[in-house]
Amino acid sequence: MMVIDILTLFPEMFEGPFQSSILKRACDRMLLAINIIDIRNFSEDKHHKVDDYPFGGGAGMVLKPEPLFRCLESLLLPSESRVILLSPQGETFNQAKAGELAREQRLTIICGHYEGIDERVRQLATEEVSVGDYVLTGGEAAAIVVTDCVARLVDGVVDAGSLQQESFTAGLLEYPQYTRPRQFHEREVPEILLNGNHQAVERWRRDQAVRRTFLRRPDLLAGVSLSEEDRRAIDALFDQ
Ligand code: ADE
Repeated sequence: MMVIDILTLFPEMFEGPFQSSILKRACDRMLLAINIIDIRNFSEDKHHKVDDYPFGGGAGMVLKPEPLFRCLESLLLPSESRVILLSPQGETFNQAKAGELAREQRLTIICGHYEGIDERVRQLATEEVSVGDYVLTGGEAAAIVVTDCVARLVDGVVDAGSLQQESFTAGLLEYPQYTRPRQFHEREVPEILLNGNHQAVERWRRDQAVRRTFLRRPDLLAGVSLSEEDRRAIDALFDQ
């Protein structure tokens, strides 16, 4: 079982995403526990104050270090436990990072907010992660992305067949999928998918994934080892 603690000032933003579909089922089956923890509960201030004006002046408020520090302390984390701070300044999240995090038994995710957080809080985290080169109002939407992506890699959450299929085209974009009907608005399902030759289907799918990646996201190919057949699939694009 994996335990993910999410520290936030806006717990209500997590009402929904983990209460449906695959992640709900994983929590019901105790493969996963997601705890949403309100940082404000750890403020000792009588007004539950969690932010303050920045030293040196400037616009906006800064998240104070003490409530977050107390909140982290309350979790009694083992010393080697990973604490992830979500912010646009972090390393960019990707599937490899998700795979690495999914091997942990416990993850703590801090959602940054306001214009900033006290630098000493940043140092409490073992790593800083961004979900992309854009600025969100806070780390909550990013925490949903990271949790969703990591959780589906936890043993038993998604069926092994789907993950194995994914590893067949690891690092590539998806091949096209079809279902019934065979003909829709004059468009036919490719013949090769209908004739039951499993090997030919697998080869066609791999070719499609390789070509699609070459055409849309050639940058991804640097991280994929391509076979002779894969290269031929790309070369054949130029013969068309
Ligand atoms: N908080 C605000 N923007 C973010 C981003 N892009 N990734 C992670 N946390 C954020």
